[in-house]
Amino acid sequence: MRVIVVSGASSGIGQAVAERFAADGDRVVNFDVAPPVGPDPAAPDAAVIPWVKVDVADWSAVRAALDEVHRTHGGLDVVVANAGISNRRGVLDLTEEDVRRTVDVNFMGVLAMWRHAAPHMVRQGHGVLLATASVNGLRGYPLYADYNATKAAVASLCRTFALELSPVVRTACVTPGAVLTPMQRAEYTDAMLAEVNERIPSRRHASPREIAAAFHYLASPEASFVTGQELVVDGGETAGPTTAFFPGHALTNGVQG
Ligand SMILES: NC(=O)c1ccc[n+]([C@@H]2O[C@H](COP(=O)([O-])OP(=O)(O)OC[C@H]3O[C@@H](n4cnc5c(N)ncnc54)[C@H](O)[C@@H]3O)[C@@H](O)[C@H]2O)c1
Repeated sequence: MRVIVVSGASSGIGQAVAERFAADGDRVVNFDVAPPVGPDPAAPDAAVIPWVKVDVADWSAVRAALDEVHRTHGGLDVVVANAGISNRRGVLDLTEEDVRRTVDVNFMGVLAMWRHAAPHMVRQGHGVLLATASVNGLRGYPLYADYNATKAAVASLCRTFALELSPVVRTACVTPGAVLTPMQRAEYTDAMLAEVNERIPSRRHASPREIAAAFHYLASPEASFVTGQELVVDGGETAGPTTAFFPGHALTNGVQG
């Protein structure tokens, strides 16, 4: 039985990740500023994940909470730094306060989780550090300048942590495309979601459980040679434009057109 901390597991992707690990019998702890939203309707029998109120932007609070998990459970095997926020704003409307908060949560929050988990993992001789990046870190997306930059920074952190901590600790990111979660729901109407689907070759958003499956793999012994990398789970979004944008080149196999 592994000891696993997931940040931002009160909702969305983090909740699905925590439930996926708990279903295997792992001891999972949720670090989140907000209480859990309740069981996923798609998994009403999922285990209840213990919640610790932690703001990942608070460096010393993260350290104290990780130390406490290690002391209570006698180990710390996997950390998933997943908590994140976004603000939909053009570059001309960015405010210092909003940008600093985005950087504090999305970048400093991941760094705090990894920085303070790593000593425990090095001392115990093994561990896996994971985080949720985003395809927004791979290329530009209008209206998310600060968010995009923090996600690119997370992928960069992943590479350097892997270099410094290998071969004792593995480090990797899951890089989702569009996922239907409360974060996405808060910023997109149904019409906007449909528009997004048009530019995804899979023609839909991912479910949080599809992202959780990637984390499950990266944390497992099957991924023992994977470190310093991001695993992109995006329905083909970053492979290129969908055939919808190339009407003259519609596929002739009947699948799309
Ligand atoms: N939804 C998507 O399409 C999508 C795509 C790519 C990447 N992501 C990333 O996935 C992660 C999870 O997003 P989601 O869509 O599940 O969002 P969500 O809003 O459903 O869940 C985010 C969770 O993080 C928590 N949180 C926010 N700030 C926190 C803080 N300072 N400390 C601790 N917890 C905090 C929230 O309370 C919430 O429970 C984020 O890092 C996000 O950037 C999401």
